[in-house]
Amino acid sequence: QANERESMYLVSEFAQKYFAETLWESELGKAIGLTYFKERGFRSDTIKKFQLGYSLDEWEAFTKEALDNGYKIDYLEKTGLTIVKGDKKFDRFKGRVMFPIHSMSGRVLGFGGRILTNDKKAAKYLNSPESDIYHKSKVLYGLYQAKQAIAKEDNCYLVEGYTDVIQFNQTGIENVVSSSGTALTPEQIRLINRLTKNITVLFDGDAAGLRASLRGIDLILEQGMNVKVCTFPEGEDPDSFARKNALEDLSLYLQENAQDFIQFKASILVKDAKGDPVKKADTIRDIVNSIAKIPDRIQREVYIQECSRIMDISEDVLFNTLAQIGKHEL
Ligand code: CTP
Ligand code: MN
Ligand code: MN
Ligand code: MN
Ligand code: MN
Repeated sequence: QANERESMYLVSEFAQKYFAETLWESELGKAIGLTYFKERGFRSDTIKKFQLGYSLDEWEAFTKEALDNGYKIDYLEKTGLTIVKGDKKFDRFKGRVMFPIHSMSGRVLGFGGRILTNDKKAAKYLNSPESDIYHKSKVLYGLYQAKQAIAKEDNCYLVEGYTDVIQFNQTGIENVVSSSGTALTPEQIRLINRLTKNITVLFDGDAAGLRASLRGIDLILEQGMNVKVCTFPEGEDPDSFARKNALEDLSLYLQENAQDFIQFKASILVKDAKGDPVKKADTIRDIVNSIAKIPDRIQREVYIQECSRIMDISEDVLFNTLAQIGKHEL
């Protein structure tokens, strides 16, 4: 239904403009939303580049405005912007700063909305639901703003959150996209694969970030892409780190701390249990499992050699393990 989808795009674009106007022009938007962004260190040009906005803390401020402007309740509901219960209608997003999510060509597909406090009880981000125009597994936040820089730099930084993308851009690194809290999917990686073969994973410096990086690695290798990983100090994420550092220092940090996936997995072992032979064997199997995902034989061989060197184990044993995994012949 091309017409239905077009109507959903149009109402989403209206919402984006309405939330941006509320942020920049209403008293509450300026006092609450704009103040929040400024306190996070976002400049005006950055806020405009990402088309950020603010939703008023009212039950139906947006819905009423959209209906008054002739948008149909059907599409407001289908995009999830309005929640309909019987004859009552509510705005989904209330009292949140708004991050529009764009398609690669710049159409608005949905929103993430953040509460303004750090209240641990409330969900920090509320997101648009999956819809006929918003398929979360096929969208990367920031790709619309990043696609040219990704091709030009021949590398893509992959981060976890909206604010990581934004703060990197503001610091001067524009080839950055985010999976926005959902587990990375093959479709998302394919979007990057069309622009570059090189991904650098930059996840948060916490346990969840580490797990997410590990999961992402194999998916990237499966597509024949090169993957590096750069971690941040405990408690930092790319946003907080970029905010504290100027472009030269950030670039230098990324350069000095980006590891290929073998070094990355080996370094986790070193932190985990120095000299524990069982753990070391597990790590080696884990690395060989990742190497088995690589479609190109020569590339597999190069990584086996590297693994042999770093883990101090013979190439023969590694090749045999690779053969046991059974995906490839020797
Ligand atoms: N996320 C979400 N819903 C939540 C928490 C997180 O959708 N309740 C998604 C968001 O896209 C968020 C990303 O996961 O940007 C990463 O989460 P987290 O690191 O917790 O948030 P930050 O992006 O660091 O957000 P902030 O700096 O505003 O706290
Ligand atoms: Mn996190
Ligand atoms: Mn984070
Ligand atoms: Mn953060
Ligand atoms: Mn900075």
